[in-house]
Amino acid sequence: MTPTLFSPDRSAVVRRLRAAGCVFAEDEAELLIAAADSAEALADLVDRRVAGLPLEHLLGWAEFCGLRVAVDPGVFVPRGRTALLVAAAAAVAGPAPAVLDLCCGSGAAALVLHGRLAPRWLAAADLDPAAVACARRNLAPLGVPVYQGDLFAPLPAEWRGRLDLVVANAPYVPSGAVAMLPAEARLYEAPVALDGGVDGLAVLRRVAAGAAEWLTPGGHLAVEVSAGQVGALCAVLADAGLTPTVVRDDELEATAVTARRPG
Ligand SMILES: C[S@@+](CC[C@H](N)C(=O)[O-])C[C@H]1O[C@@H](n2cnc3c(N)ncnc32)[C@H](O)[C@@H]1O
Repeated sequence: MTPTLFSPDRSAVVRRLRAAGCVFAEDEAELLIAAADSAEALADLVDRRVAGLPLEHLLGWAEFCGLRVAVDPGVFVPRGRTALLVAAAAAVAGPAPAVLDLCCGSGAAALVLHGRLAPRWLAAADLDPAAVACARRNLAPLGVPVYQGDLFAPLPAEWRGRLDLVVANAPYVPSGAVAMLPAEARLYEAPVALDGGVDGLAVLRRVAAGAAEWLTPGGHLAVEVSAGQVGALCAVLADAGLTPTVVRDDELEATAVTARRPG
């Protein structure tokens, strides 16, 4: 963290953030003060935060599973609950796995899995050019390639049927519920990152069908979903020929499903 080179009025910042409804106003004030190199820059950050911009987009990074992940404007901010998906995925990965972070967004899951597993191959992919550019910033220093395109389409064909683990935090909000999301998501994250179609499972259906082709026999798909969708998702996975196992963490309010390709 860069030392603050001016004398910010901490309590004034906290008061403004609190009045704007920021629940963790003290913590946010510290982060914004640390991110600013002048009183003017701080005033600008606080103004934009009070106007509703996500803290992570203002800072340019999010904390995820203990790591600092770069997050660009418009790119999905990795959520704390997705720690369950990453843990569930890591738990089913065998030794030296070939791993794909599909629908990677900022590449947060790949970044964490790079440290937790010793993958013999690790790649990420996303449809959204802004997400791909952001993921490349996070993953290029580790030598992890990031492909741009629809689901599995941009991947090197040689990996078809050879992946041990596909992690996919795909969009799963039903189209009709997108309007009810908090403004920070609705207004500042790309719709393609959120909207999962009529029942929320449109992208996940295609992920399941693709995983059945791209996984090696015995390999696993790991996905995140809301608690209310888990029954329908398990049926989708079973229809694709995969065997689902549900993992739940009440504290994180998170549900993940791992699904094994038999063989
Ligand atoms: C909910 S965000 C998750 C991002 C990241 N995995 C995370 O957990 O922070 C879903 C991501 O899926 C991507 N996406 C949506 N449809 C896609 C598709 N058809 N092919 C590839 N990526 C897609 C979006 O661009 C977005 O980055």
